[in-house]
Amino acid sequence: MNILLLGSGGREHALAWKLAQSRLLAGDGDRLFAAPGNPGIADHAECVTLDAGDHDAVVSFCRDNSIGLVVIGPEAPLVDGLADSLRTADIPVFGPSKQAAQLEGSKGFTKDLCERAGIPTARYMRATSLEDAWGALKMFDAPFVLKADGLAAGKGVVIVATREEAQEAVRDMFDGRFGSAGAEVVVEEFLEGEEASFFALTDGKTIVPFGTAQDHKRVGEGDTGPNTGGMGAYSPAPVLDEKLRGRAMAEIVEPTVATMASEGMAYSGVLYAGLMLTEAGPKLIEYNCRFGDPECQVLMMRLESDLGEAMLACAQGRLHDYGQPQFSDSTALTVVMAAHGYPDAPEKGGAITLAPDGAGGVTVFHAGTARGEDGSLVSAGGRVLNVTATGANVTQAQKAAYAAVDRIEFPTGFCRRDIGWREVERERA
Ligand code: AMP
Ligand code: GLY
Repeated sequence: MNILLLGSGGREHALAWKLAQSRLLAGDGDRLFAAPGNPGIADHAECVTLDAGDHDAVVSFCRDNSIGLVVIGPEAPLVDGLADSLRTADIPVFGPSKQAAQLEGSKGFTKDLCERAGIPTARYMRATSLEDAWGALKMFDAPFVLKADGLAAGKGVVIVATREEAQEAVRDMFDGRFGSAGAEVVVEEFLEGEEASFFALTDGKTIVPFGTAQDHKRVGEGDTGPNTGGMGAYSPAPVLDEKLRGRAMAEIVEPTVATMASEGMAYSGVLYAGLMLTEAGPKLIEYNCRFGDPECQVLMMRLESDLGEAMLACAQGRLHDYGQPQFSDSTALTVVMAAHGYPDAPEKGGAITLAPDGAGGVTVFHAGTARGEDGSLVSAGGRVLNVTATGANVTQAQKAAYAAVDRIEFPTGFCRRDIGWREVERERA
């Protein structure tokens, strides 16, 4: 069959790499398209120009090219309802509907759902005016957690130590610091614990666990400095042991999927739960309606099952036939190489020379790369490369990843040298 993958980051390169190995694409005439793709994705797919915001154009492309499955990588087209337009046109699509994607698109929506379904999460209040938000702040103690309700590219969360800073941050949000995403604000209780990510695939009825990961959101070593989309990740996350994974499924993911279905908003696709492992057990910090970036890269390195078949089973509502996805026992770890100036103002156009061999269990996924006029590889975004390796544990995978990083020439780039540090410390103990 023919498959269309939408997106252009390291997550989509990992998806393209894994989809290219699918039995769905094993036939002679089978084609994988990516829109817009990137130079790394171009090794596995035919990259085409297509505006994901133009639903009619996407549907026409799918009809013209007999697309049997569309995979939507990033959240924006999902929140914008692209999956609905494709379903209306009878084109199988991996990814939730606009209503279901509110789990990522509106923090207030998700908090209310947690309340209705009795899902453990931080205590919260929603506010649509400055007065309401200041009033809500009175109900909480420091540190204060404030969230712009809508999509804000991972930057809409502010955590501050004093009430004055909190009032200031709320004013900024209502003044448009996060655009329309800040028209509503959620004030919530600060949760203490270690964070970990839990993934599940669902077709709205059947749910299968789809791996765990931990990422490093801060730009600097020792988890310092501003938040980013993620500077590195590893999978599995040993802190999410079997017992905690069972609780995350039973207390958080299952009631979410059941409630969404019973309220006529059945969720289909991947559900990415950001969890805080508190003393009282796992609590939901947030949901994402797509794979994490760079968490996807480490999940794909470990996935042994056929990704295309799993996605098609979700898209066609027959995940119960699919069985349990299999992952390798090894650890995968990815190091993000970013451009100088990331996350504020990344430098573009920096030369990159990759080592000739990607061998030794190491895969370099492209995120923000482009081809210069002479065909050479240059940086074209904040996060540029995801150097991904496997090993028997985090220590081994980390060693292999940094050995590969050191074989890449990217003078205008940088990376953290401590990805996986928490687990490396625990493995040493
Ligand atoms: P989010 O975009 O909701 O994942 O939030 C970004 C980051 O803010 C999370 O990864 C956490 O580190 C932190 N965070 C969000 N909500 C809370 C909370 N209620 N308590 C403590 N930390 C939080
Ligand atoms: N790495 C965090 C995210 O994809 O949201």
